[in-house]
Amino acid sequence: MTGVSAPGFRFQRAPPPTSRPLRILHHGAILRTVSSTHKKTLDRAMSRAGACSRSEARAAILAGRVLVNGRPVRDPDAWIDIVRDKVLLDGEPLRAVPKEVWLLHKPCGYVTTADDERDRATVYALLPKGLPWLAPVGRLDLDTSGLLLFTNDSDLANAITAPTTKLQKTYVVVCQGRIEDSAARQLAAGVTLHDGPTRPAKVRRLAADATTTTLELVIGEGRNRQVRRMIEAIGSHVITLHRTQIGPLQLGDEPEGHARRLTTAEVDALRAAVRTTPGRHRPRTNRGRSR
Ligand code: URA
Repeated sequence: MTGVSAPGFRFQRAPPPTSRPLRILHHGAILRTVSSTHKKTLDRAMSRAGACSRSEARAAILAGRVLVNGRPVRDPDAWIDIVRDKVLLDGEPLRAVPKEVWLLHKPCGYVTTADDERDRATVYALLPKGLPWLAPVGRLDLDTSGLLLFTNDSDLANAITAPTTKLQKTYVVVCQGRIEDSAARQLAAGVTLHDGPTRPAKVRRLAADATTTTLELVIGEGRNRQVRRMIEAIGSHVITLHRTQIGPLQLGDEPEGHARRLTTAEVDALRAAVRTTPGRHRPRTNRGRSR
């Protein structure tokens, strides 16, 4: 399947079945080939360059704000060569933006999205002004507080959040009622959720009183509302949920509502943890869209 991007200028649309070079066609003739290692769909190339999110890139492309080699391209799935093709957004070239990772101590009451259709406060309101475009690494629920990362390094973000990763995330969860040892053992062994059984977890009781139990839960997965659903699966429910650690990175004493850029040493430690974690993420190919 090919998509017409501009008169007389066609980009090959379908991902190649092998790693053969892509052909860019002009009036049916091969204009040039694109090395498969440099090929990216236009929307992905823009988000990889740190210019904007993938959905913002798609919207800009569809709105005709993007030129490739001087010609408007309105097809977000057009394949380009990120080394050779010149991409302009609103007349400005895409520049390689340095990769950054930021840590936010998210308070409850903020949505993890850039744009909330219900106009609620978003986590972006808590980031300093003037940062390059950064995406949240996974998400925390509206009512969850704690460690949330942001980055413009989509490979690192994908590696941390990939379903195959076993990078451990630590939560402190205050549960309704008494959680007996047998229920804690169930949590540790894995409980059955509607989207399948959970992997073994580490569970530690931190405190208990007549009406609540506080657990530390360390899990190597990140499914939607996973901790809340795990606690419901043992017959309780979450009163408060707070993330304290992702891999080697601790929230520490970062004040609530504050963000800071990770140091090089912290980013290196995170990268090393992702690389050495068994079941780690394999880099995405261009074969499918992430969302
Ligand atoms: N698990 C949940 O249920 N919610 C979160 O926000 C994070 C993990």
